[in-house]
Amino acid sequence: MLRAARRPICFSLCILAYLLQLSVAEASDAGPSDSTKQQNLSAWLLPKPSFPSHNPYSKSKVELGKILFFDPRLSHSKYISCVSCHNPALAWADGAERSELAGLYAMPRHTPSLINIAYRKNFFWDGRTASLEHAIDEHLQAIYRDSHELIEEIAEIPGYRARFSDAFGSKPVSLRTISASLATYLRTIVQRNTPFDRWIQGDAAAMSKQAQRGFNLFTGKARCITCHAPPTFSDNKFHQSHLNSIDPGRYEISHHKADRNAFRTPPLRQVSMTAPYMHAGQKPTLRSVIRYYNAGDIHQSSAQMKPALGLNKQELRDIEAFLNALTGDMQPPTTIPILPTRSR
Ligand code: HEC
Ligand code: HEC
Repeated sequence: MLRAARRPICFSLCILAYLLQLSVAEASDAGPSDSTKQQNLSAWLLPKPSFPSHNPYSKSKVELGKILFFDPRLSHSKYISCVSCHNPALAWADGAERSELAGLYAMPRHTPSLINIAYRKNFFWDGRTASLEHAIDEHLQAIYRDSHELIEEIAEIPGYRARFSDAFGSKPVSLRTISASLATYLRTIVQRNTPFDRWIQGDAAAMSKQAQRGFNLFTGKARCITCHAPPTFSDNKFHQSHLNSIDPGRYEISHHKADRNAFRTPPLRQVSMTAPYMHAGQKPTLRSVIRYYNAGDIHQSSAQMKPALGLNKQELRDIEAFLNALTGDMQPPTTIPILPTRSR
């Protein structure tokens, strides 16, 4: 009798213990961790993009910049446009490790997405220019054609002449006005409405519990926030890469030893659409990027990236879920502009 009576007691105690365990686990899964509670979530809110006083916003500049962005006649071959590498359908990147357009232009580095370029403090993987207009200037001359030839070609198209005078008045078609309108267009390509952005604004259901755990890891144990800092997920600084690449990176600009193989921290909004990853597209998936961090510093010594993170499989998946919550629909969707012709 005694034995028979003990069994149900033990059984119910076990169930109770199991239920208690579950509720403890759920509470710690769902609720924000101390690290999250301590941080000011509003620090992650992106302000509206601003336009510099030397190149202020105007609707006509945006329209002209968009047309130039899609126009392959800017290139010497006449079939390469900005869109060939910065494709809106691929989050303004190109899905390639490094672009090699018909063997014509082999780029030494991976094409970065142009989303949220308005918030950048420096441009290119090595941050060699601090102005978006200069970055575009450099690009136009390096991969397009002789700038005189380019300007002549554009100025000969009547539809362009009208649009340049709408945007710049009496200022002529020049490398400067071309770059200014392209830069103004690019500053309008903004993503600040991801599930994560809605979650930090108070919509508790916008991000799954798993992604919320991922955010706690991102800002806590996994230390991603050290470099992928609010509000853009980039500190705009340079950090040594451990991918064993021969690319000197920032060193070529600064000549500081600490900058050897150092690259600018990429921002992460819309990141699930911009594979492959890293400065030469070395990592094919987000999962492989997270595993790389978890394994720790494998090639060189760097105070920041060592030691290995020691995250378990569940934690790796949680961080991946969080990174996926940084991608949302782009609004409004991009339309393809009609290009001006010689007769129109
Ligand atoms: C052949 C491919 C290709 C084409 C065409 C191309 N780009 Fe790029 N773009 C790249 C690559 C690769 C980089 C990174 C280069 C580096 O970091 O050294 C880049 C970088 C940039 C950057 C800096 C991005 C950042 O995050 O710092 C801007 C801005 C940019 N491109 C705008 C343009 C514009 C505007 C056009 C058209 C006039 C254009 N690109 C055409 C491949 C291309
Ligand atoms: C010490 C600074 C630093 C820390 C810490 C850090 N990152 Fe990075 N992250 C970078 C830099 C720099 C790159 C570019 C490296 C390269 O191209 O070689 C990068 C690249 C990435 C990329 C690829 C983005 C792209 O567009 O190519 C992802 C995704 C990423 N990091 C996520 C994370 C996550 C998740 C963590 C935490 C587990 C983390 N990072 C921790 C600096 C850092």
